[in-house]
Amino acid sequence: MNQVDVIVIGAGAAGLMSAAQAGYRGRSVTVLDMGKKPGRKILISGGGRCNFTNENASPENYLCGNPHFVKSCLSRYTQHDFVELVDRHGLAYHHKTLGQLFCDNNAQDIVDILLTECEWAGVNIKLRNEVISVSKTEIGYSVTTEQETLSCESLVIASGGLTMPKLGATPIGYKVAKQFGLNVLPTMAALVPFTLHQHDKERFEGLSGISIPCEVSSEDGAVFKENILFTHRGLSGPAILQISSFWRAGQAVIINLLPDINLKQQLVDWRESQAQKSLKNSLATILPKRFIEILHESKAIPDCNINQLTHAQIDELVNYIHAWQIKPNGTEGYRTAEVTLGGVDTDELSSKTFEAKKAKGLYFIGEVTDVTGWLGGYNFQYAWSCGFACGQYA
Ligand code: FDA
Repeated sequence: MNQVDVIVIGAGAAGLMSAAQAGYRGRSVTVLDMGKKPGRKILISGGGRCNFTNENASPENYLCGNPHFVKSCLSRYTQHDFVELVDRHGLAYHHKTLGQLFCDNNAQDIVDILLTECEWAGVNIKLRNEVISVSKTEIGYSVTTEQETLSCESLVIASGGLTMPKLGATPIGYKVAKQFGLNVLPTMAALVPFTLHQHDKERFEGLSGISIPCEVSSEDGAVFKENILFTHRGLSGPAILQISSFWRAGQAVIINLLPDINLKQQLVDWRESQAQKSLKNSLATILPKRFIEILHESKAIPDCNINQLTHAQIDELVNYIHAWQIKPNGTEGYRTAEVTLGGVDTDELSSKTFEAKKAKGLYFIGEVTDVTGWLGGYNFQYAWSCGFACGQYA
């Protein structure tokens, strides 16, 4: 049957959620995806265990041109609603840090829940079916894939962003938005590791694998307190991924290497307890030894004993360690990014239904829209929230 009520492009988190909801309303629904499996990003997420939501999700955890849009969306289907859904399916899961909920077994459990919901709702999922183009018909839309042309009354675009092209990311969603006159905000890789300029890369590549709990800030004031991780290409770790969403080319990031220690006070204490000990060896007891050696080689740490430090040196050192500045060369880009910043301008969409204001029956949900969550289960929560809301109307 080539005519259905609803076509959903994308069998990812947002697409499967919306398809099941529309199906439960008695709509005939077909989901089209170019992949050979549904929910491929869910399967690789959270190190294979899918951080499927965050207990503390709130609008402040998202970047979007219109914060009210996110507020409205999250309030329609909250993290508690999604937890209620997974509880109903008997999912085994656990709480990690910072409100993050992960599967005990693996991410396939989440995909299975969505597929079960789709099956109960009578949704037809067609895989290995890449959508090439979309056009307007008298009653709705026609969608042409590599194999066939299908028609529908409501078309839901849940085709995701540009991250991880090897997992089937395509710009089809942005292309359709522009085709129907919708504004698309510039896109950029986010939640992504930084690469370093050659001199810093050479200085720090020996630290690959070392992780330090830090507080990382962007030049415009975003702050995240989590670990940073040195890699053979540059810097990664949760704090770096978080700040990458706020960083712009040419800016520095500011890293407090000892967020839980007042270094000035520590130096005063050391002056009393171990005045003759070398500064370098003392610092190596509170920061990784190899890192301290590199800073020492580059003269950022004076070559002296604790009691030989001058006031000026103390101030300089304290400032250096509590506000270490590093200028990334760039990011690793869409190849390794978790999400895409920017996308379909939310001002073009109803925050209640996700229908395009300029194109009746055309809906945009999930990562293709200009809503980007922090690291920590917020992006999936947005996918569930908008998928649920859209499925009530499409
Ligand atoms: P998603 O990208 O999931 O789905 C889009 C679908 O559309 C894909 O299946 C694709 O094949 C299909 N498609 C695209 N173009 C098409 C075309 N032309 N024709 C047919 N089909 C097409 N978030 C989180 O909250 N917790 C986490 O633990 C993680 N972990 C994580 C790890 C990694 C490595 C990545 C890359 C990402 C995460 N994320 C995450 C982010 C999360 O995966 C992301 O926000 C959601 O998958 C977005 O869901 P969508 O349904 O919008 O797009």
